[in-house]
Amino acid sequence: MVNIKKIIVTGSSSGIGNSITKTLIKNKIKVIGISRNKEKNVIKSKYFQSEEIDFSELKNIPMKIEKVLDQNEDVEGLISCAGVGYFGNIENFSVDKILRSIHTNLLSHIILTKYLVPFLKKKNKGKLIYIGSESALNGGKKGSLYSAAKFGLRGFTQSIRAEVASRNITVTLINPGMVKTNFFNNLDFQPGSNKKNSIIVYDIAKIVMSILEMNINTSVDEIVMNPIIKSVIKK
Ligand SMILES: NC(=O)c1ccc[n+]([C@@H]2O[C@H](COP(=O)([O-])OP(=O)(O)OC[C@H]3O[C@@H](n4cnc5c(N)ncnc54)[C@H](OP(=O)(O)O)[C@@H]3O)[C@@H](O)[C@H]2O)c1
Repeated sequence: MVNIKKIIVTGSSSGIGNSITKTLIKNKIKVIGISRNKEKNVIKSKYFQSEEIDFSELKNIPMKIEKVLDQNEDVEGLISCAGVGYFGNIENFSVDKILRSIHTNLLSHIILTKYLVPFLKKKNKGKLIYIGSESALNGGKKGSLYSAAKFGLRGFTQSIRAEVASRNITVTLINPGMVKTNFFNNLDFQPGSNKKNSIIVYDIAKIVMSILEMNINTSVDEIVMNPIIKSVIKK
C-alpha cells in the first residue's frame, strides 16, 4: 500500500525524474514536477502539476518553494533529482560554471530540504529521497566538480537523517551508475552502446516506488545501483 498521496519531484521533465514522475502518476500519487521550463514539463494527467524553478539561481528558490508549499498543504515528501553534469579539468571551468554546478547539484537540494523539513515535521511523517550518483562514492578524473557536489549531498543526507527520524521522516540517497539520458547530451562521453552498460531508468523509478510503499518504521538509508557491465565510451 502506498503511504504517500502527493510529492514534489525535481527534474521531472527528463530522464530519471521523468520516469519516476510517470511511475508515481500510474500509481495514483499526485506529483508536483519542477524544472526550469513549465511549458516543456508537461504530462497530461490530473495527477500532475508543473512548476518552474531554476536551481542554479539560489536567490529565487525560497520564495518559489514557499509558494508551492503554501498552495499544496497535502505534500508529503520530496524526490530531489534535478542535476547537471559538468565534467573537465578544474582549471578549465569559469567561476560562474563552478557556482552553477554546485548550486544545481548541491545547494538547491539543501535549500529545498530546509523548507520541506519543518513542513513535514508538522505532519509527523514524510519521505525525502535524493538522487546522488556513483560519483558520491568515488572521485575520478575530470569529475571533481560533480563529485564535490554529490559527496556533499551524501554527507548532507547522512546528517539530516538523524535530525528528522524522531518525526517519522525517512531520508534515502540513491546512487546510480550510468543511465542513458539527456544528461550526456553536452558531454564528450556516454555509457557504452551495449544495453548492459546502462541502468534502465524505470528500475530507478521502481526502487523509488518501493521506498514510498515501505512501512513508516523502515528507513532505506542508501542504495547503490550499477549497470551489470561498466563501460564508458568517448563520443
Ligand atoms: N544519467 C546518469 O548516468 C546519472 C547517473 C547518476 C546520477 N544521475 C543524476 O540523476 C539526476 C537526473 O539526471 P538525468 O540523467 O535524468 O538527466 P537529464 O535527463 O538531463 O535530466 C535532468 C533534469 O534536471 C533538471 N535540471 C537541470 N538543471 C536544472 C536547473 N538549473 N534547475 C531546475 N532543473 C534543472 C532538468 O530540467 P530542465 O532541463 O527541463 O530544466 C531535467 O528535468 C541528476 O541529479 C544526475 O546527477 C544521473
